[in-house]
Amino acid sequence: MKGILLAGGSGSRLYPLSLVANKQLQPVYDKPMVYYPLTVLIAGGIREICLIAAPEDLPRFQQLLGDGSQWGIHLEYRLQARPEGIAQTFLIAADFIGDGPVTLILGDNLFFGGDALPRALAAFQGGASIFAYHVTNPSSYGVVELDASGQARSLEEKPASPRSPFAVPGVYLYDGQVVEIARSLKPSSRGELEVTDVNREYLRRGQLQVTRLSRGFAWLDAGTSTSLFDAAAFVQTIEKRQGIKLGCPEEAALRRGFLSLEQFENLIQKMPDCEYRHYLQGIGTDFRRAESAQMSMPA
Ligand code: G1P
Repeated sequence: MKGILLAGGSGSRLYPLSLVANKQLQPVYDKPMVYYPLTVLIAGGIREICLIAAPEDLPRFQQLLGDGSQWGIHLEYRLQARPEGIAQTFLIAADFIGDGPVTLILGDNLFFGGDALPRALAAFQGGASIFAYHVTNPSSYGVVELDASGQARSLEEKPASPRSPFAVPGVYLYDGQVVEIARSLKPSSRGELEVTDVNREYLRRGQLQVTRLSRGFAWLDAGTSTSLFDAAAFVQTIEKRQGIKLGCPEEAALRRGFLSLEQFENLIQKMPDCEYRHYLQGIGTDFRRAESAQMSMPA
């Protein structure tokens, strides 16, 4: 499974913050926003990732994330010259995707809690797999209507009168048909190639699976100043209460085995003296303790 992180868009809803930096480079509490979706991909076991951004923003992402080798992953970059919809991603990254499966995650979507995403990734066998999340404002999203058995009945993009309270979050798993499906799409009334139309086509083919994200799972999007602030407050609350950090690619890479403990420790050495480094040092110490406890266990 490969991964695509879409960090495009003009971020106009964040104006004037977006004059300073692209939306996905804005801080969500103590990390740049893009760290959170990137960490979801790494935690899901995805090592080959393509980031898509506008030409003027791409150098900043490259500076921030590099080629990914520091986290044991491979990062490539592609340009989105004009923001013409989420499904445009599959045209831009067609050569990266090839004909294998791919997970698309939106750069302003934050997911916390549970293991629904890694499980869906591990269980993915083909077709498309998307999620449903109960929200108060479904009209702002793609909306999925479910039948009694939890199968999708209909999908609509930002309907004025939604048929269900279930929004479709910005993480999507597709098989190799996705590029051909994206090529066949026509722009919507808002002039975009809609990801909802991709999902509709999988539904038409009888190949769409929907997983309901449980109560307590947190999905936030951080595309407006208010939701950005809410997301930061959420992250701070959890981090302060639990003493864990959300959205740390270094930690996810260590836990996934993409980095050895030695590589992880070398990476920390290069960081300035700061809270982030102290946190990761604690993780390293825990790992070292667990390792030596295992070694001293009788065979
Ligand atoms: C996009 C999709 C929508 C999805 C949402 C998730 O909306 O079009 O289907 O529910 O992302 O964040 P947009 O970012 O264009 O408002």
